[in-house]
Amino acid sequence: MLALYVHVPFCVRKCGYCDFNSYVVDDDGAHDRFLAALAAELQRCWPAGQAPRSVFLGGGTPSLLSPERLRRLLAILASAVDLRACPEVTIECNPESVTTEKAAIAREHGVNRASLGVQTFDPDRLRFLDRAHSAAGAEAAFGALRAGGFDNLSLDLMFGVPGETLDEWVADLERALALGPDHMSCYNLTFEPGTHLTHARARGEVDANDEEVDRAMFLHTRQRLAGAGFTAYEISNFAGRGGPCRHNDHYWLQGDYVGIGPGASSHRGGVRWTNLKPLEAWADAALAGPSAVATAETLRPRQRAGEALWLGIRRRAGVDLEAVEHRLGLPVREWFGAAIAEQVDRGLADCDGTTLRLSDAGLLLADRVGAAFLIDDAAA
Ligand SMILES: C[S@@+](CC[C@H](N)C(=O)[O-])C[C@H]1O[C@@H](n2cnc3c(N)ncnc32)[C@H](O)[C@@H]1O
Ligand code: SF4
Repeated sequence: MLALYVHVPFCVRKCGYCDFNSYVVDDDGAHDRFLAALAAELQRCWPAGQAPRSVFLGGGTPSLLSPERLRRLLAILASAVDLRACPEVTIECNPESVTTEKAAIAREHGVNRASLGVQTFDPDRLRFLDRAHSAAGAEAAFGALRAGGFDNLSLDLMFGVPGETLDEWVADLERALALGPDHMSCYNLTFEPGTHLTHARARGEVDANDEEVDRAMFLHTRQRLAGAGFTAYEISNFAGRGGPCRHNDHYWLQGDYVGIGPGASSHRGGVRWTNLKPLEAWADAALAGPSAVATAETLRPRQRAGEALWLGIRRRAGVDLEAVEHRLGLPVREWFGAAIAEQVDRGLADCDGTTLRLSDAGLLLADRVGAAFLIDDAAA
């Protein structure tokens, strides 16, 4: 089963912590050119007649498109896939650009899930993060999405912003819960290479938050959201009434997907390719054909098996090793037995021979545990 990712690379402002491929453009003409290039790429890249298991319109900021262009984008997608028949179609939205009108347009075309990027309700932290909205704006946007017909709404928050205290995070989480979201993503802020925030830290202008405070925030989040009826199905993701995000779960299960738009990646059966990243270069190549792909690689068997563990261990249910062996036809336990035993000995993972899962201590070090299974090209 194939999933479809659509990258909409526009934002009203570039947030200082963000390294996603997004652009602030003054000229709306860029939006039209983007849509034309996307239409051409979709026709070429999506297998005709195939029903997607999920569709994700991400960014960037898909909600920034004008109502007319949003309609056009959804019509382009509908020319290749039946959105209304798809079990999950998500759109990422930002508070400063989403409206009831846009939400209703998305719903009409079969979008059945929205993810609203709030990050924080605190005015100082909103400013620190360069966000283009206020706390009241985020709450109004949530209401606009509900009024537009969304009954499956997710909220994104970030914790561990430099200087943030546990009490401040507790207050943010409460204010988010008060809105009644159906799913929540709570990310620990990371300093991504090349971002303004990371440069500011290198200059000594900003200090990373205390690790112990971040740890307390992480543990509080799990406890509080469990109490509110959310299931922690992944390190940063919590399913409420809306259930897990089917699209992201498919990534962690190493599923196949086609990504369109600048810098979007695709994966099919151990072959991975990534589009040209710069907006203009991607649009030129997508419009001219035959392809806007910049790089492609075929994963070696050991890399593919290692990645199945690296991705899957993020899921709270863990990795079903037998299922992975069966799916890939590879001796995963034979190859990775020693690496698994090392993580178990360190108390970071549990393994009963068939399921590999992070321990409670490992949850806090998920990236490090996952990295133990990655194999570089030379060693594959
Ligand atoms: C690529 S953004 C797109 C969503 C939307 N444009 C927004 O700003 O909310 C998806 C999510 O990634 C998270 N994110 C982005 N950069 C991050 C960072 N450096 N550390 C932690 N989370 C980050 C944010 O929570 C954000 O909502
Ligand atoms: S966090 Fe969202 S709004 Fe901010 S720059 Fe990244 S994609 Fe754009």
